[in-house]
Amino acid sequence: MTISREPSGMLRLGGVSLAEVARVTGTPAYVYDLDAMADGARSLDAAFDGRPHLVAYALKANTAGAVVRTFVGAGCGADVVSGAELLVALACGAPPDHVVYNGVAKLDGELDLAITSGPRGIGAVFIESIEEIARIEARAMAAGRVARVGVRVNPSLDLAGATHAHIATGHDRAKFGVPRADAARAVERVEASPHLELVGMTSHVGSHFTSTQPYVDSARVLFGLVQSMRAAGHARSLRFVDTGGGFGVDYGGDAGAGGGPSAMPEPADFVRGARTAQREFGLDDLALYVEPGRCLVAPHGVLLARVVQTKITATGRWVMIDAGMNDLLRPALYQARHRIVALEAPSDPATAIPWRVVGPVCESSDDFGEHALPSEAPGLVAILDGGAYGFTMASEYNGRQLPVEAFLRGGRIVGHTRRGSVEAWVDERVRAGS
Ligand code: LLP
Repeated sequence: MTISREPSGMLRLGGVSLAEVARVTGTPAYVYDLDAMADGARSLDAAFDGRPHLVAYALKANTAGAVVRTFVGAGCGADVVSGAELLVALACGAPPDHVVYNGVAKLDGELDLAITSGPRGIGAVFIESIEEIARIEARAMAAGRVARVGVRVNPSLDLAGATHAHIATGHDRAKFGVPRADAARAVERVEASPHLELVGMTSHVGSHFTSTQPYVDSARVLFGLVQSMRAAGHARSLRFVDTGGGFGVDYGGDAGAGGGPSAMPEPADFVRGARTAQREFGLDDLALYVEPGRCLVAPHGVLLARVVQTKITATGRWVMIDAGMNDLLRPALYQARHRIVALEAPSDPATAIPWRVVGPVCESSDDFGEHALPSEAPGLVAILDGGAYGFTMASEYNGRQLPVEAFLRGGRIVGHTRRGSVEAWVDERVRAGS
């Protein structure tokens, strides 16, 4: 967390006064500390003990160009889940070799893009079902290429309780990956095709793990499969194993998908756990890939919002802000809790009282929970840990404009986006269907 307070009590991110950012961009605004993101990515590298590896940044967490370029500059590759994300990754300088592509229903056009980008296509297209193999094979044949592929294995582990049900993917009933029991069949099918080259085996079993245990357990399932396939004379062309993303972050010790225990593992702890297992399974000749998204960006972004008004009744006290569930969906969708703080510290912290912070959207779930804020409601607030799955999940619901994004580096604002106009939105909606 790169949040601090100026001696005057004003909140800063990456050394920049957030009140100044709000003045420049207006609100609601996501603000990102690019330096802290780069530092986080570089510090992950150390956990691989100098062995071949790839940190494939999961773009779905935050697709902003300045963010993606920061990670590419720090040596990361990219994990993408759509043709659009792939185009962003490539345009931001990610070498095609360092891009992997997950996704259960990739369109033919998306496969074509992946297979034909760069001299040899992207690093790997991950196969998520036996049925998908023939489709990828057909696209590779049509392009006259040999597509580099990986098999995404669903380790079929019951990880109930390890994370929120909405973001657990490694169980039997999930749509993701080839079931563990079918993995050998998928590998043999790939190996039988002259249009496909098996380069990796991968799994991703969920997001926001607050302990390394489920991550390492599923890595061990993956490694065990690779070991037995090799013993049976298969998977000779493998170059990497990929244990996916899912490294949790400390959202401030609250329960729910946005919470977690206070003794959170560091991102590097997940990598070290996977590395240790990789060694134990005798797979040290293979590179280790990981696909973190959240941990690289969540703590280094905030959502700035303006207090529109307060409401005090016999039953409650509300602070109504100009950011809603359309800007930050996580509380409504996963009951996640993000800390909310006043931009200007109260002169006397003892005057803080509980306020229920809500947005303007016409849904009861447009509610950021109860937070201790000054009894005299502040003018501006920051919703913390908003760098991941914030803007990327934002919508224009209720005729609201998407939030702006501001980018900080070297203690200053190095760029920001502009809010769409209400007029343009109205015009587009009015003309729809005419
Ligand atoms: N790799 C794959 C194949 C994934 O599906 C995901 C996330 C990641 C990597 C990155 O996981 P991370 O390191 O960020 O946990 N919107 C939810 C999170 C959904 C995650 C989906 N997949 C949230 O706001 O909590």
